Amino acid sequence: MPRDASPRRYLMCPPAHFRVTYSINPWMDPSKPVDLPLALAQWEVLRDRYRALGHTVSLLEPRPDLPDMVFAANGATVIDGRVLGARFAHPERTREAEAHLAWFRARGFTEIHEPAHINEGEGDFAVTGSYILAGRGFRSSPLSHDEAQEFFGRPVIGLDLVDPRYYHLDTALCVLDDAADEVMYYPGAFSRGSRAVLARLFPDALIAEETDAGALGLNAVSDGRHVLLPQAAAGLFAPLRRRGYEPIAMDLGELLKGGGSVKCCTQELRQEQELDVRREL
Ligand code: ARG
Repeated sequence: MPRDASPRRYLMCPPAHFRVTYSINPWMDPSKPVDLPLALAQWEVLRDRYRALGHTVSLLEPRPDLPDMVFAANGATVIDGRVLGARFAHPERTREAEAHLAWFRARGFTEIHEPAHINEGEGDFAVTGSYILAGRGFRSSPLSHDEAQEFFGRPVIGLDLVDPRYYHLDTALCVLDDAADEVMYYPGAFSRGSRAVLARLFPDALIAEETDAGALGLNAVSDGRHVLLPQAAAGLFAPLRRRGYEPIAMDLGELLKGGGSVKCCTQELRQEQELDVRREL
């Protein structure tokens, strides 16, 4: 049975100034050249695909001094129109947080919380119908989990990430159907206790193999029906189809050099009211 997609709003930032000049995760090797025109072209295919699927994509102005800004998922978390800002773990990315906050303020969002504790937005927060799943271990502070729970009024489930290749929750887990609490994840990225928590909360989860997780296959975005994911994660396509999803292969090979793929480039704006998200800066 095919599933139903629901229209989404996404915030993205073109990789106009993307480069790998520092290394804050094991994927980043500053000695490997980045093909910037190719990175832009790959990113545009993703943006255009969202729009072709009927989703709204708003854009954040890229800043020349912030080469990782293309990874827009890390800049904030928005649920019910409430915006939890980010606080980055590494100084190289600190100023991205204020760019995101300015964007939300300029568009009339009023429920905005500037965090006291380190959280890297949707890099470590994943939203299902029942919970906010929250990664910790490499970037976001466990204290940010309480902060998110208090601000959003939703139960936050802390999950310990143990493998540096999966330094953000969104590299190891993807929400496929938020209403139905359906996820896919790679158990090897989590501590033993967190694996048991995931198995208890999501007994029917799609379990990814290491080869697909290692291609950042879980760094995917689902609208409830279409699942956009890195093309190299070939082993995930058939299991997704068997569950009624429509996998869509994306090539973001240049952005992978920064340690990110589809989801990292995509922040979801979960809001009920119609705000002026279409207006470009
Ligand atoms: N180079 C970026 C960093 O290490 C990549 C962030 C990827 N984003 C994500 N949502 N996992 O911070």
